[in-house]
Amino acid sequence: MYQQKDGYHKMAKKEGYKSRASFKLIQLNKKFNIIKKGYSVLDLGAAPGGWMQIASTLVGDSGVVVGIDLKMVKDKFPNSYFIQGDIFEEETIQKVKEIKEEFNTIISDLAPNTSGIRSLDHQKSIDLCYRALELSLNLLQFKGNLLIKIFQGEDTKELVDDLKVEFHYVKISKPESSRSASRETYVVCKGFKKRKLKIEDKELTEESA
Ligand SMILES: C[S@@+](CC[C@H](N)C(=O)[O-])C[C@H]1O[C@@H](n2cnc3c(N)ncnc32)[C@H](O)[C@@H]1O
Repeated sequence: MYQQKDGYHKMAKKEGYKSRASFKLIQLNKKFNIIKKGYSVLDLGAAPGGWMQIASTLVGDSGVVVGIDLKMVKDKFPNSYFIQGDIFEEETIQKVKEIKEEFNTIISDLAPNTSGIRSLDHQKSIDLCYRALELSLNLLQFKGNLLIKIFQGEDTKELVDDLKVEFHYVKISKPESSRSASRETYVVCKGFKKRKLKIEDKELTEESA
């Protein structure tokens, strides 16, 4: 296991990536193709910037990446914006909307400060996952993608079931670069149904794929 950890750390250094976390997004995107050239990507829990760096390369010059974190991301990446703030604060979301109203893909590597108490850490992680889902209902384009990290536990199934209501395709996937001893895993959601009713248009439609 340590060998695996060292391997990814070394590889990250060699490739000029910020951390081993970068490989998780690379591997998940290779498998599920959720970030493409020209896409707009919202990165929740972006510090220290590993995923922002990868997403910035994947979207290229015609795309845009917006990262949010409580902690600062010091590095600047092409076609990218960073907002230091709390994802639970409306002020933070307003700042996102000033840059971009809707995104092709939302990625969340959000993680709570862990206590070591499994059930408590799972519950905090679940709260972050549901906030990511809530933000997706608001900020994701029709047919968009959502990727979220979860610390597995008793509420994982309920979360997956709730995600299935909003997305046509939902799959749990743990990338090879995620330590096998870690309880983290990722849920990949594609084909956002965008069932939200457009009341402002007085047009009570339900878009479907
Ligand atoms: C595992 S790190 C993300 C690593 C990042 N994906 C990378 O590749 O560099 C999880 C991040 O979630 C952030 N976070 C946790 N709760 C948050 C909240 N309420 N609002 C914003 N960021 C939060 C933490 O500050 C932390 O930096």
